[in-house]
Formats: sequence, C-alpha cells, structure tokens
Amino acid sequence: MLLLCFAVFDLIVSSPCAAAPLDSVSGLQSVSSGSTRNKVLLISFDGFRWDYDRDVDTPSLDQMAKDGVKAEYVTPPFLTITSPTHFTLLSGRYIENHGVIHNIWFNTTTQEKKQYYASQFVDSYWDNGSLPIWITAQRQGLKAGSLHFPGTAATYQGETVKVRQVEPGFYDHANETDWRLNVDKVIGEWFHQQDLDFVSLYFGEPDMTGHKYGPDSPQRREMVKQVDRTVGYIRDRIEHHGLTERLNIIMTADHGMTTVLRGEQVNEIILSKIPGFSFKDIKFHLVDYGPSGMLLPKEGMLEKVYQALKGGHPHLHVYKKEEMPARLHYSKHPRLLPIILFADPGYVINGFYTFQYNKGEHGFDNEVMDMKPFFRTVGPDFQKNLLVGPFETVHVYPLMCHILGIIPEINDGHLDITKHMLAPKKNTGGDNGSTEMSTELQAVIGLSAVIGFLVLVFITTTSYNLFKRSKANRYKSDHIAAEEKTDQKQTNF
Ligand SMILES: *[C@@H]1O[C@H](CO)[C@@H](O)[C@H](O)[C@H]1NC(C)=O
Ligand SMILES: *[C@@H]1O[C@H](CO)[C@@H](O)[C@H](O)[C@H]1NC(C)=O
Ligand SMILES: *[C@@H]1O[C@H](CO)[C@@H](O)[C@H](O)[C@H]1NC(C)=O
Ligand SMILES: *[C@@H]1O[C@H](CO)[C@@H](O)[C@H](O)[C@H]1NC(C)=O
Ligand SMILES: [Zn+2]
Repeated sequence: MLLLCFAVFDLIVSSPCAAAPLDSVSGLQSVSSGSTRNKVLLISFDGFRWDYDRDVDTPSLDQMAKDGVKAEYVTPPFLTITSPTHFTLLSGRYIENHGVIHNIWFNTTTQEKKQYYASQFVDSYWDNGSLPIWITAQRQGLKAGSLHFPGTAATYQGETVKVRQVEPGFYDHANETDWRLNVDKVIGEWFHQQDLDFVSLYFGEPDMTGHKYGPDSPQRREMVKQVDRTVGYIRDRIEHHGLTERLNIIMTADHGMTTVLRGEQVNEIILSKIPGFSFKDIKFHLVDYGPSGMLLPKEGMLEKVYQALKGGHPHLHVYKKEEMPARLHYSKHPRLLPIILFADPGYVINGFYTFQYNKGEHGFDNEVMDMKPFFRTVGPDFQKNLLVGPFETVHVYPLMCHILGIIPEINDGHLDITKHMLAPKKNTGGDNGSTEMSTELQAVIGLSAVIGFLVLVFITTTSYNLFKRSKANRYKSDHIAAEEKTDQKQTNF
C-alpha cells in the first residue's frame, strides 16, 4: 500500500502531464463544495453617456476603474431607446429578435398607444419568445431580483422575477435619498439577508436631466456627481455587508444623449411639410418621439409614401423595413412597421408641428458616438485596473451567464467578445487559467493536488479493505463501515 502511494507520487512529480490529476482533483473540489459561484449586480444609470465622467470630478467611478475594468465605451442596439436596449442587456438578443421594438406599445388596428410606463405592464409585449436572465437563472435554481429595471413588471412564460420592486406610477427619479433606500434594499436585504445570486438595479438618471437641460448643461454635470456619490455608496454597502469578495458589479446604461439643434437656421424635420407626403396616406404612425419614427401606409400607398419621403429632407433617413441596414438589426420583427425613419444627430422627427422641446435626445443611429453608454465592472471575477476597447452591449448577457454558471438561452452575444475582462480562474480545470498564476500559487496547488490524489488513493484502498472486512464480518452493517471510513478520513487529515 505504502509502496503504491510512493509509486503514484513519483509518477505525478516526474510526469510532464502533472496537470491532468490537478484538473480532475480541483474539478472535484469545485463541484462538491458548490459555493464557488459569485453574485452579479447589473446596474443601469439611464442615459449615462460614455464620456460623462470627462468634465466632472468622479472619484468613486475613478476608484472603480482602478479596482476593476473600464470599457472605453459600449455600443447599444438600435433603436437607442430605453425599453428595447434594456431588454437586450437582459436577453442578449438584438431588438428585432426579442421583439420589444419601442418604448411605446401600439396596436395599428385600434390606433391605441401606451406610453413607456403603461407598456411595462403589457405581458404579451415583453414575453415574445426571449427570456430575461432572471427567469433563466430561476429555472436553473438561482435566486434573482430586480428593482425598477425595465421589464421587471412583466410575466414571462408564466413566471416573473421572484424578488422585485416595480417602479411606482409617479416616481421622482432624481431623489438621492430614495436611491440610497433602493441600494440598501438590494445590497442589505436582497444580496445579504436573502442571498440572491443576481439583481438588476435601475436608476432613471442622468437621462431625465439630459433630456431637460441637455447633455452639456451644468445640471447634467451635477447629476453625474450624484451618480458618482451613489456608486461610492453602493461599494461601501457591499463592503459593509462583507460581500466584496463575492459580488460582481456590472454597471452600464441603455444609450447616451445628444444636444438637439434649435434656432432659426435649423431646418426642422416636419413630415407634413415634405412635398408629396400626406398623412392621409397613412394608416398608423409613430412619430413625434425623438429622432425616430415608423409608418404604416394605407393599402397600396407604400411606394408613394416611400418615394415622397426618401430624399425629402437632407437630415432624414427613410427605409423600407426590409431594406434597413443589416448592421442595425432592426428589420426582421413583425411588429416593425413597413417604413422606418431616423434623423441625423441633433434632429428630431415631427409629424405636423414642432412640439418637442427636449434639449437632449437619444434614439439615433448606434454608430453616433453620443449614443454610446459607459461600461464599468468590478468584483472577484474581473481583472483589475484594466481598460478595454468598445463592444456591443448584446455581449453582456453571455458574460453574466458565465459568471453565474448558468446555461444561457439562445442569444446574439458571444462570450469570446467579453471574456478578456475576466480574471484568470483559480479553481476550475480545463482551461489555461493556471498558466497565468504565480509560480508560488502553482506550487501550492500542485502540492495540494498531489496530497489530494494520495488521499484519494488511500481512501480508495482503505475502503476496499473495509469493504472486504465488512463482507467477512457479517454483524457489521454497511452503515458502520461507512462511518468508520469517515472517521479514518478525518483522523488521517
Ligand atoms: C389589436 O387590436 C385588434 C382588434 O381589437 C386585435 O384583434 C389584435 O389582436 C390587437 N393586436 C395586438 C398586438 O394587441
Ligand atoms: C411575437 O409577436 C409577434 C407580433 O406581435 C407575434 O406574431 C408572435 O407570435 C410573437 N411570438 C411569440 C413567441 O410570442
Ligand atoms: C426624497 O425621498 C425621501 C424618501 O422617500 C422623502 O422622504 C423625501 O421627501 C424626498 N425628497 C423630495 C425632495 O421629494
Ligand atoms: C493554452 O496553453 C497552451 C500551451 O501553453 C497554448 O498553446 C494555448 O494557446 C493556450 N490556450 C489559450 C486559450 O490560452
Ligand atoms: Zn433610457
């Protein structure tokens, strides 16, 4: 027996394939302990443009970048508005694939429209075949929660996110005291007390302030300071509850913001003034909502409407639905209307009159730099002090699934695009994580692997002997033999 052990030891130490037993042993450890999974907190600060930290002092965001990963910027899906882009974060699908194509739910037959808030409660609108990560996590035995995040109110295939706080109808999105109460709830109650694995947390700013005062306003800069204080508070609460080594923060936004051009010299887009175009030819329209629009022409009027609008204004882009540029991924869904419009940066699309008074807008082409959100992460699974290049937000979903250890639904993202942000894995076999470990760590792990392997060999041999013994000794039940086996294991360690 002892001889066998030495033989095995020798084999392991001298073998060039020493990594093989290492992998199998550490693999065993992570499966049996079952608690190696870390938590994920997905935070969205609505309309936080990628460069909002450039003209404001943001100590907490700067510290977070030092402790974690900062992307230069990220690219949201088109249409760059709130509900559609948030649902891409939650599902990893482009908008034409998940079906939440607009903030406004509409019915072209009844002419009915529901605004952003009311649309949150139309289950059939959100539940169009793609599952948000909460439901997938719950189905695979994890605990998920969501606070105010778009999509939280809806039921998906008969299931809602189990722990949730749906945004109230009239809510002051800028109240910093409320923000802290929400943070206390998510960190203190949901992650700490209830041990949730995943939570999505939404803040309605700096979007509102960006719309009202414009992205270059002092009010927007003040709101970014409030965001920064809140980031500091979130990290402080995580530390306070001892969650720093277990909880990953992924912080981003749904879209950016750009200044709307105004004044005498600006050639406003007013559809009714475009020669050859008439709303009489239109059965249903969705315009007067920032820089994008959709039209359903009456029977037989498609070509006329299209020809009138195409080239009808120097800053208006007009496409038949099926001719939308493929890169926008906003073409295939049956909910999209036959004609899709979007404006150049700075312009909004008006129907009959100009009555849109926002100083800032979003909803433009996702290639426009002002539409890009920020992106930061920090936590045990991420690299530290790393600046990475841009990527599309559709790739955040597979990253979150990977960290949570859940099997993703079919999606349009790829872990390959985002995995370089992850810290080298310390305890899973199979990949090359060990090559990036320090040699000391490698030595320690190698030694424990050898010891672990020897213990396994010892236990196997011992239990085989015990088995033989119990077989011979008829009064001894298997139960006692097993107990003895455990005893031996303990005394030998
Ligand atoms: C729109 O309304 C019509 C008439 O009530 C109804 O038949 C149809 O199912 C509705 N469509 C949607 C998407 O709700
Ligand atoms: C998605 O919505 C479209 C249009 O409303 C509908 O035709 C389709 O059946 C829906 N698909 C699913 C899976 O709910
Ligand atoms: C902000 O929220 C707190 C807590 O809900 C409330 O007590 C306070 O009155 C609010 N402040 C303002 C200015 O509305
Ligand atoms: C893994 O390590 C081998 C040998 O060092 C190397 O050839 C290979 O490129 C590595 N693979 C990855 C994914 O890093
Ligand atoms: Zn938004």
